[in-house]
Amino acid sequence: MQDLETKQDLDLRLGALISEHQHMPGALMPLLHAIQDNIGYVPESSYSQIGKALSLSVAEVHGVVTFYHHFRTHKPGRHVMQICRAESCQSMGSEALEAHAKKCLNVDYHQTTSDDAITLEAVYCLGNCALSPAVMMDEEVYGRVSAEDLDALIAEARA
Ligand code: FES
Repeated sequence: MQDLETKQDLDLRLGALISEHQHMPGALMPLLHAIQDNIGYVPESSYSQIGKALSLSVAEVHGVVTFYHHFRTHKPGRHVMQICRAESCQSMGSEALEAHAKKCLNVDYHQTTSDDAITLEAVYCLGNCALSPAVMMDEEVYGRVSAEDLDALIAEARA
């Protein structure tokens, strides 16, 4: 993910990603993933540009972005913590872990800490069910995460 300083940078990056993807069959999902991977989120201001390129309405683009939990519509913090809420992790204590995370970070899901260090998100299976409960910090997946492990991840992200 790149840190974009200006709206002009953002528009340039978006334009390049749209050009790369717009002629692919079923381009919307790969394009949205590419935008989020590159920019960190899918800005609402991009819906019209995306819609125009793919012959979709703004409402259709908005509908897809908001349907999938994976997509963010706002710039995340410097780190993104995702707590798995799927069945295996729930049975191994992820609800207590998410309550602990929300309390320590003083945020709810889809929110960013006041120091801009961590955005907290829910995820539905990280493919690490054998090591539930699982947490992903940025690109790294952690298994059998305890409250203490979570505290260490938070401290590291804030260091
Ligand atoms: S259910 Fe959490 S990693 Fe699969």
